[in-house]
Amino acid sequence: MADTVPTAAPFVPETDDLDRLREAVQSCRGCDLYKEATQAVFGAGPPDADAVMVGEQPGDVEDRQGVPFVGPAGKLLDRAMAEAGLDRSRTYVTNAVKHFKHKPAAPGKRRIHESPNRTEIVACRPWLVAEFSVLHPRAVVALGAVAAKALLGPSFRVTQQRGIPMPWPDSAYHPEDFAAEVQDNAFVLATIHPSAVLRADDRDAAYRGLVDDLRVVAESLASR
Ligand code: URA
Ligand code: SF4
Repeated sequence: MADTVPTAAPFVPETDDLDRLREAVQSCRGCDLYKEATQAVFGAGPPDADAVMVGEQPGDVEDRQGVPFVGPAGKLLDRAMAEAGLDRSRTYVTNAVKHFKHKPAAPGKRRIHESPNRTEIVACRPWLVAEFSVLHPRAVVALGAVAAKALLGPSFRVTQQRGIPMPWPDSAYHPEDFAAEVQDNAFVLATIHPSAVLRADDRDAAYRGLVDDLRVVAESLASR
């Protein structure tokens, strides 16, 4: 039944104020993920940001602190952005899913992340659309497969299409949700997730790949 499909939509206030959205997301019951998380983690950054970086979901540290990309993956991302010439103060960072999904862990142990499923990604999308509608980004960076699929549809393959600035697609997965909210000449680029860099066998090579992709973003922004 249509009205039983999990969605955040009824919890998203109509507003162009990111702080109001950030407050409202704490009461979201759009899917079950709020039950096991400490708090929702909304995006962070200036409302006039040029670029929006979209990750997967908060990690263990983010869940405790309530801020995106402040744990190990976030530190790596900060370093890669600086090296690529992307101005952090002109960048907004957020996640496809706003609550931390994880396996239970023994007390005091770091909880192990579990990837959100399609239902949860789709349920949470209204928050991401609301962020876009305030930010009207010029550049959107999908960090990893979950973000790329949330933005570009389930058949998008980061491994094959990373590092390439693409015009905002009008034929992708539910593009109407986002298309009205990005700037006319907006582009989207997918790259590896910073957590995947941390897990890679050859971390240096994976890191250089991330920096190279982010450099493409910085250069594309500068030349438009
Ligand atoms: N990984 C993500 O995708 N997002 C965060 O905020 C932290 C780690
Ligand atoms: Fe709402 Fe998203 Fe949290 Fe689910 S994950 S409860 S849709 S904010």
